[in-house]
Amino acid sequence: MAPFITFEGIDGCGKSTQVQLLYSYLTNQGLKVSLLREPGGTSVGELIRSILLSNETSNLLPISELLLYSAARNQNIHENIVPALNDGVWVLCDRFKDATVAYQGYGLNLDLNLIKFLNDLVSQNRKPDMTILIDIDPNIALARARKRNLKNHNEEGRYEQESLTFFHQVRKGYLEVAKKEPGRIHIINGSQSINKIQNEIIQLIMPLLCTGEINGIP
Ligand code: TMP
Repeated sequence: MAPFITFEGIDGCGKSTQVQLLYSYLTNQGLKVSLLREPGGTSVGELIRSILLSNETSNLLPISELLLYSAARNQNIHENIVPALNDGVWVLCDRFKDATVAYQGYGLNLDLNLIKFLNDLVSQNRKPDMTILIDIDPNIALARARKRNLKNHNEEGRYEQESLTFFHQVRKGYLEVAKKEPGRIHIINGSQSINKIQNEIIQLIMPLLCTGEINGIP
């Protein structure tokens, strides 16, 4: 079974850059890799993403939001993640179920048991083998995210309108999840340079690259 690696962190932490860099690194090694994101990654998921992240959906109720993230994840797992892993393809996913715990659980105060129930319902018992959490001070991250959105005329800015307190809560959520699962979740300091972060990630995935099964050797 190929590895399933997810990337997490608050908006503006730099994770999307790092997922892309790891994707290029792995494909340059000749590996088959599927690069996915949540919400999104399927046709239904991308439509759901546009509802969730539009600046015009500020009236979306927290439970509706949670159900939409779960629906997008259900599609992604069934259509992309499980088939890829079964075919020996590495899966890199830009956000996954820890994001729901951090954003909807800690950020919006939704019931963590309900979130766990929905995550379990859609995951088909698949858990990431490794999660890279890029941790950064929300003051730095939000300034970056807002600058990027302005520059790109990005329409996906709903969360960036949230208060700093919201992002401090989300960060706290991520760190608490990481404390509970230190074997899976690896915290990287996101205030370092892009190269330094990339090198740390490559060191982390090295053991996965070195196992015979992953390189196609039985
Ligand atoms: P992205 O900009 O990293 O693609 O993420 C999109 C936004 O979606 C980001 O603000 C975090 C949010 N999000 C949640 O709130 N809950 C979730 O379960 C996921 C996957 C994303």
